[in-house]
Amino acid sequence: MRRVAVVEGDGIGCEVIPVAREVLQVLLPDAETFDLEVGCARWERSGHAITDGDLDEMRRADAILFGAVTTPPSKEYASVIVRIRKELDLYANLRPVRGRGFDISIVRENTEGLYSGIEEISEDCAVTHRVITRRGSERIARFACGLVKRGGHLTIGHKANVLRSCLFFRNICIDVAREAGVRVKECFIDALCLDILMHPERYDVIVTTNLFGDILSDVAAYLVGGLGMLPSANIGDRHALFEPVHGSAPDIAGKGIANPVAAVRSAAMLAAYLGRSTAVQEVESAIQEIFSQGVMTPDLGGTATTREFGDALLSLLRQRIEGRT
Ligand code: NAI
Ligand code: MG
Repeated sequence: MRRVAVVEGDGIGCEVIPVAREVLQVLLPDAETFDLEVGCARWERSGHAITDGDLDEMRRADAILFGAVTTPPSKEYASVIVRIRKELDLYANLRPVRGRGFDISIVRENTEGLYSGIEEISEDCAVTHRVITRRGSERIARFACGLVKRGGHLTIGHKANVLRSCLFFRNICIDVAREAGVRVKECFIDALCLDILMHPERYDVIVTTNLFGDILSDVAAYLVGGLGMLPSANIGDRHALFEPVHGSAPDIAGKGIANPVAAVRSAAMLAAYLGRSTAVQEVESAIQEIFSQGVMTPDLGGTATTREFGDALLSLLRQRIEGRT
């Protein structure tokens, strides 16, 4: 029996994950799901946003479905999702951006870079260390090269003209790509943020460092209708966590209007990871069918609530999947 830990988290995480979880249950009827509460709401109540016990539960699960957590900008609060990625060594953050005429995989290094957590703050100066290791760069480059299909290519997003840590990263990526026989291009990250919007069809797999990948993927969300649409996988050698790219969206939380598509797509990636190889196509085709009926949440110009969109999608998926089996 496969076990999936489900973390709704804060804000709209609690609204989109219930839909995603039901989709997951349709895709993987034999998997068992169990809840873990982590995040800001729990911190406010108990003083702990996440415990070692929660991390152990996540390690014992076969995969994790994660919503979003609020990270208050406070000295006392360390980001929960950043801690999970590090503790479970989920070094590859894969963010697929697919649309008409383009199919891009953004691969973000997920455990080091500017999110190293090594910081020195004094009265007059604040320093954050950007840590780029050979091991970290080699493994993310290998992961990215593994996604490049025949005829495809890898683009390295960096700022090697200014940052020597970027030059280090870039050189390692080029070596790994050569060894793997993968065609490689490179682009300065600032230029890449514009070019991905102007010429998305020119990109295939993109590999970049932690903060740059975070920013680039939010930028790329523009290509597919916004943050409500982009799923992601956080993959390590032993564990995997699937989550929408968006955060807890406090501006719309509690209104029941969050777009659940990013979370649902993440659930489909999870199902594929656990062996249902057709999950992503099945879910994608159902989403497009529901869109074509004009059922959409307000971020896409529609009037449907999270639940209404979710119910329409679920009933179609059940009909297609359960009706068939
Ligand atoms: P955000 O992604 O939560 O929201 C940015 C904008 O996109 C907002 O206007 C929001 O309403 C909209 N949006 C996001 N998801 C949407 C959806 N599913 N449907 C419709 N509209 C959607 O980013 P923001 O505002 O920068 O951060 C809010 C909180 O979330 C912060 O505390 C931040 O630290 C946290 N966060 C957590 C992440 C995680 O858990 N992995 C990732 C990003 C932010
Ligand atoms: Mg982000």
